[in-house]
This record gives sequence, C-alpha cells and structure tokens, in this order.
Amino acid sequence: MNSASQAPTMQQHSDNPLVALVPRINIHAFCDNQQTAEAMQAAAIDRRMSRAHVTIQLGGIMAAVQVFQSQPTPNVLIVESHGSRDVILAELAQLASVCQPNTKVVVVGHLNDVILYRELIRQGVSEYLVAPLHQMQVIETIANLYNDPKAAPVGRIVAFVGAKGGVGSSTIAHNFAWQMSKRYATDTVITDLDLAFGTAGLNFNQDAAGGIIDALGQPDRIDATLIDRLLTKLGDKLSLLSGPGGVDRDFNIEAHAVETILGAIRGSVPCIVVDVPNMWAPWIKYTLVHSDQVVITATPELASLRNAKSIFDMLKLARPNDTMPKIVLNQVGVAKRPEIPAAEFGKALGTEISAIIPYDAQTFGTAQSNGQMIFEVAPKSKAAEAMARLAQLLSGAEKPIKASKFSLPIFDKLPLLRKKQ
Ligand SMILES: Nc1ncnc2c1ncn2[C@@H]1O[C@H](COP(=O)(O)OP(=O)(O)O)[C@@H](O)[C@H]1O
Ligand SMILES: [Mg+2]
Repeated sequence: MNSASQAPTMQQHSDNPLVALVPRINIHAFCDNQQTAEAMQAAAIDRRMSRAHVTIQLGGIMAAVQVFQSQPTPNVLIVESHGSRDVILAELAQLASVCQPNTKVVVVGHLNDVILYRELIRQGVSEYLVAPLHQMQVIETIANLYNDPKAAPVGRIVAFVGAKGGVGSSTIAHNFAWQMSKRYATDTVITDLDLAFGTAGLNFNQDAAGGIIDALGQPDRIDATLIDRLLTKLGDKLSLLSGPGGVDRDFNIEAHAVETILGAIRGSVPCIVVDVPNMWAPWIKYTLVHSDQVVITATPELASLRNAKSIFDMLKLARPNDTMPKIVLNQVGVAKRPEIPAAEFGKALGTEISAIIPYDAQTFGTAQSNGQMIFEVAPKSKAAEAMARLAQLLSGAEKPIKASKFSLPIFDKLPLLRKKQ
C-alpha cells in the first residue's frame, strides 16, 4: 500500500515500464465511463494479465454494492465514480458493508484531490487513480498490489529469433550481449534456449556447462541462487546459461519452466539476452510474447520475408502495449544473389528495418573460428558499425558508456576479491 504522503498524480505510467506479471487472480471492474471501460478492456487482454480473470461492467460503485450483496467479492475490485469527495466516501461506506476484508479495492475517480486520496488510503483502499486511465497504468497498479516493489523486476528481456535457420540470429544476439556488457557496462546473461545445437559456448570459446538442463528439470526449485550456480562466466559482466550441446538427451521444455527461469534471472540481472532457436512450439511463442523486446533476424529473400512477417504479425497482435519487434536484415549483398531490397522488405512488413548487416564471410568466419566477437575481430567493419547502432537502439541509451581505465569499480581492479562463479 502506498504511503499517505504520495499524491495521486504520481501514479503515472512510464512509456515502456518493466511491469511484473499479474498473478492468477479475479479482478472485477465497475466502470462509470466508456473510456475507463475501454482502458480496462485493453489491460485485460495484455500479456501481463493473461493469468488473471477479468470481469468488466458499467455502473460504478453502486452497481458493485448491488452485485456483491449476493456473491463474494473478488481479489481485486476496481470501482469508478464521477462523484464529489463526499459522494465517493459515502458510496464506499456502503461498499465496505459488502466487501470481504481480503479484497483489494482500487478506486478510480475524476478528481485530482490529495485529501480524498489520503482519506481513501486511511480507510484501507489500496490505490486511487485519476481518470482518464491508460491501460498500462491499470496493469502496473494491479501488478504492484501483488509484488513487493523491492522485488519488482530489474531486468529487461531481449529475445532474438531467426526467420529461418542460419540467418545469423545467434551471432547477432551474442554480439549484442557482449556489447551491452562491455560498452554499456551492464550485467548481462545470455540464455541459450537451443539446448542441443546452441552456439553461444562455441562463439565465446567456452565449454558450455549445460546448466539450463538442471533448471528446466526442476522448475519448482528455481530461484536466483540456483540460477547463479548454473551460469558460466564469459566476461566481467557477461554470463551464459545454456544447454550442454549434443543430442544425447531428450528435452521436454515447458513454457512454465522458461517463465520461471527468465523470471528468476530478471529479478537481479539488468539485461537478459535470449537466444531463441528457429522452431515453433508453445514455449517458443511464450518466450517471444513475454519478452520486453524481440529482434527478428532475416536474410533478404522470400522464405525469410514470409516467416518474418508471420512472427511479426503474431507478436504485434499478441503484444498491443509493447514496442514493435525490431527487424534486422542480415547477410545482405551476397555476390550475384538476387535479393529483396531493404525498403521493400520493410514495406511488406509494415515497419522500418532496424539494422542492415552486410554479408562478410571473412569477418564472421574469423570471429567464429576464433571464438571472438565481431567487435573484437573487426571493430571498424560495416557489420560492427551496424551492430553497434542496433545495440544503441535496443539499449535505449543515448550513447555507449565510455569505459575509462580510471573509473572501474573497485572489484574490477581486484579480481581476486570477486566471487568465483
Ligand atoms: N553477416 C554475415 N556475413 C557472413 N556470415 C554470417 C553473417 N551473419 C552470420 N553469419 C554466419 O552464419 C552462420 C549462421 O549464424 P547463426 O548465428 O548460427 O545463425 P542462426 O542462429 O540464425 O541459425 C554462422 O556461421 C555465422 O558466422
Ligand atoms: Mg541460432
């Protein structure tokens, strides 16, 4: 519950907030205004609310009083009123007589009135929101009722998926993660969900510890401590959670397990790069739909365009309140190959292309055989430039943080003091 000193005007939603998922609860909203009902409707179909059961009806507080005379109140009750301070308080007094004590009540009013806000909070109302509402504000408010703000997610999940196999999605994901950890000094974890054929270990010249198998096998035991033990360290601020590689074992991945793993990492690591294999399964769809950002990599030919369009359109529909997936055109300019021009590719998808990366067999081949990043092998190449711009776009930062020798945190200067992973 908010402290009484907080003014209602502070309940504003940010553009791209990191909002926790709303748990499996019943929510009943009694709106007194079409706009509010529409915002509730839009909130109800958002991915973050997919586990909740939402009922919306018109009629305001008095309709709620009537309905709950004969049925129990839900986990969250949202009631709207156009009334004055006194009217709202009088109506709520009637609601209190039918409302169960464990129901959390959110009041939507049309008055930006701090005295009313304080009185409502004093009376046990969980939150007071001032209309007009935005759907993200509704979702954020409900999520906050169930999540300790201190335990709210800190990490942004960026999922990379290829429109076809071999388009370079993993390479771009790994280079992005490396760039985030080095140039943006952000702690980053790569989660390689391609358990059998994943290349993250190879691309960083590291033996994959295969830890993700342990996590997927016991989803009920997953927490930050377990995940921490399963990570392979790739660099100062870069770690990897991956499969062991190989086809010796059969894996059965459940969306629920992926959700728990990503949720646990997200609690403590600011950037999570998910390398999503090129295949289609319920857990793949789940991962893409529930990521904060999705990058679809395609090559400039027809099959790639068709697949990129299906993934893009599905995500646009499933994530109406999220940023659009980013499209990367990779391996552009292969000699003598007829290609779909970037402008046409973007037009067919109805979006701009976020990055165009040239075909450069020498640079990518060298990086791969050395287990290095493009930024290390050819930092001045066109491919490195395009990937640096993509990282800037995805990080949302103005420009990379210049890592100065003299500004390293103390632990970086004293490697022996750092925790062994
Ligand atoms: N722009 C590029 N030019 C040349 N080779 C590339 C380029 N991008 C990726 N590759 C190479 O293509 C191969 C497949 O890349 P990978 O990242 O594993 O694709 P995906 O994850 O989409 O299956 C790798 O050998 C990689 O080095
Ligand atoms: Mg891959």
